[in-house]
Amino acid sequence: MFRRGYGGVELLLLLWGLDLSMPCPHHCICYTSPSTVSCQAHNFHAVPEGIPAQSERVFLQNNKIQRLLRGHFSPTTTMLWLYSNNISYIQPSTFHGFDRLEELDLGDNRHLRAIASDTFLGLGRLHALHLYRCGLISLPPGIFSGLQNLQYLYLQDNHLEFLDDDLFIDLLNLSHLFLHGNRLWSLRQNTFRGLGALDRLLLHQNEIQWVDRQAFHDLRRLTTLYLFNNNLTELSGATLTLLPALEYLRLNDNPWECDCKAMSLWDWLRRFRGSTSSLVCVSPPELVGKDLKTLKKEELPSCLSREGHAQGPPGKELEHGESLNHLNRHRNHHNHHQRPYMPHGDQHNLPSPSPLPRPPKGSRKNCTRRGRKAKGGLNDVQVLREEGEKDYPPDGGKYDGSSGSRRRNKCIPRTSVGPPSGVQRASNKAERHLADFASCLSSALLLSVYFVILR
Ligand SMILES: *[C@@H]1O[C@H](CO)[C@@H](O)[C@H](O)[C@H]1NC(C)=O
Ligand SMILES: *[C@@H]1O[C@H](CO)[C@@H](O)[C@H](O)[C@H]1NC(C)=O
Ligand SMILES: *[C@@H]1O[C@H](CO)[C@@H](O)[C@H](O)[C@H]1NC(C)=O
Ligand SMILES: *[C@@H]1O[C@H](CO)[C@@H](O)[C@H](O)[C@H]1NC(C)=O
Repeated sequence: MFRRGYGGVELLLLLWGLDLSMPCPHHCICYTSPSTVSCQAHNFHAVPEGIPAQSERVFLQNNKIQRLLRGHFSPTTTMLWLYSNNISYIQPSTFHGFDRLEELDLGDNRHLRAIASDTFLGLGRLHALHLYRCGLISLPPGIFSGLQNLQYLYLQDNHLEFLDDDLFIDLLNLSHLFLHGNRLWSLRQNTFRGLGALDRLLLHQNEIQWVDRQAFHDLRRLTTLYLFNNNLTELSGATLTLLPALEYLRLNDNPWECDCKAMSLWDWLRRFRGSTSSLVCVSPPELVGKDLKTLKKEELPSCLSREGHAQGPPGKELEHGESLNHLNRHRNHHNHHQRPYMPHGDQHNLPSPSPLPRPPKGSRKNCTRRGRKAKGGLNDVQVLREEGEKDYPPDGGKYDGSSGSRRRNKCIPRTSVGPPSGVQRASNKAERHLADFASCLSSALLLSVYFVILR
């Protein structure tokens, strides 16, 4: 009787993965295999002391931690969640030597603002790096160097205005790059150089008005490109021709000028087999409110007649028209050259009428997870929900929104590491409840053990 009861309790404790002999910081819950320290939502103002040296997964989200210093965490860590704290300083050496780290979530630390260029040095196993909503104003050159296994980089909802050339050049395995909700105004020839595995590039809700014709030259596997809610007046068809794998393109809510320089885009759209948004014209007056996609070729104003030049074979009309138009812009807008690097002088920013800010129309689409373990019962193919109101709220489109919903409605696997036994990661709440339940249950079981022993 005694032995059976005791064995049952032992077995249960084992099933819960609780190791009561393991040291664990005050107010935290610790599990084994993988060794996990769970300290979320406890009003910690600093990283708690006593995180076991062999910890693999450390959950500290939803606290008020302000600083990250060397020695706070163990180099054995594979997964570190620090989102929704109040981190304003990260000592550059905090993660040095963390060569097993696979996922680092620093998102939603609005006072962070800046990160030293060597902060992520040597994190050769990192799969996912979350830096969304961190108040970042700029990114130092080299900040992502050596992260050749990175697949998911979340930089949305910061204040980034500018991306250095070759910033992402080492990210040969990057598949998702989220840059929406920033203040980017230009995409340069080498902004995205090296991203040969990129599948999804989200650039909506920026102020992009200038895209270099070569800007997408390395993105041969890109399937999804979002440029809606920007300040684009034009985009050359040649720019998009560089994207052989493109399937989903969103260009709505830009102040499209549907004059002759829109011809190459019109022509590209006509031939494109994937899915596109509408492109509503804001000029010329007779085309205001019309969708560039549904215009007939004759409706687009001809550059030749407008410029009063009528020479050249018909096939050359487009190129000729474009170059005339650019000459014109050179004359009228040379003041815009203060902004750096306009190599071709072919796509200058123009003062533009305001696009109408409104959430894009919803749609659903499929996306696949390549080469990753299915977990939590999910299949390799998941449906990404993009119902406008949910994913793009009026306040700026939080893809990785509030902590309550951030783990859902996404097509992106968080990590390749499975959840600890008996613990669900579906949402913070669920995890907390389960953890509370687990500690409650284990105390009850312990009590009954003592009771049995006393008898
Ligand atoms: C968060 O950090 C900022 C700057 O470090 C500070 O001004 C603010 O009071 C902190 N907020 C909380 C809730 O601790
Ligand atoms: C990219 O990821 C694949 C597995 O998905 C891996 O085999 C390959 O080594 C990685 N490439 C680099 C450059 O690390
Ligand atoms: C871009 O468009 C927004 C929204 O219409 C407008 O408020 C902003 O001034 C524009 N920015 C530039 C640089 O033209
Ligand atoms: C997604 O793909 C699956 C399998 O390929 C298919 O059964 C499903 O209908 C697709 N869903 C949508 C919304 O396209």
